Amino acid sequence: MRPAIIVHGGAWSIPDDAVEDHIKGCREAAIRGYECLKSGSAIDAVEEAVKYMEDDPTFDAGYGSFLNSEGEVELDALIVDGRSLRFGAVAGVKRIRNPILLARAVMERTEHQMFIGEGAEKLAVRFGMNLCDNSELVHPRELERWRKGGNKDIFSTVGAVAMDSDGNLAAAVSTGGTPMKLPGRVGDTPLIGCGAYADNSLGAAASTGYGEAIMRVILAKKAVDLMENKPSPLAVKEALLIMKERTGGLGGLIAIDSRGEIGFYHTTSRMAFAYVKDGEIRAAASII
Ligand code: GLY
Repeated sequence: MRPAIIVHGGAWSIPDDAVEDHIKGCREAAIRGYECLKSGSAIDAVEEAVKYMEDDPTFDAGYGSFLNSEGEVELDALIVDGRSLRFGAVAGVKRIRNPILLARAVMERTEHQMFIGEGAEKLAVRFGMNLCDNSELVHPRELERWRKGGNKDIFSTVGAVAMDSDGNLAAAVSTGGTPMKLPGRVGDTPLIGCGAYADNSLGAAASTGYGEAIMRVILAKKAVDLMENKPSPLAVKEALLIMKERTGGLGGLIAIDSRGEIGFYHTTSRMAFAYVKDGEIRAAASII
């Protein structure tokens, strides 16, 4: 198979003055992930791409995430391996710079699949990861947004889906959730089948958008299931239109099906994304 990667930097009404940074960040993340695919696996590629976006304060993941109603960052992440259907997830962590690294450690170094809050942070210490202070994850832009009362209609996230040269699929997502969320609120991102899903026999998908709606239709799994009978561009569109019709919720999806075809779609006003396939790079903040 020919390796491919697609990443997203969130589906929402990305402001005009933030579009360029979103495109740049997605493009760089996709290139870094694609570099991994030259020698590594799909799992390595999605981890690398999502880690890059967690470190880029442009995005609602890692440093720069939206703040909850108490002015703190609370992070969720999920990584899924399409070979084994194994996944690792963490939710509600407050002192981890790169939750996607911890999610991968959960998948590969424990017999479990999901850890939350302080238990997840204790696990990170056991794995030799450094904890940070929550204030180190707070970007001045987000403090300003929080002081003004936030904007509950924003819902972002970052994600990546990759296929390696052996035809293996993987997906990963990471988020700070929604602005002004109540402490302890968990959205779709760390939930298997909601934030992401990967199955080598069908395809892989990663979601972004309004978590409360995404959970109700188990969006990523729905898109992957639809790939049994249609290519990923049609599957992601149908899954998002079903979500809109059944719940009124908006969002976006990126995907690769088992034949290696890339798909993306969003029902929000904009979605930032980038992909690399056959050496061709495309990055955009797509507008409907
Ligand atoms: N989609 C991210 C969230 O709702 O938390």
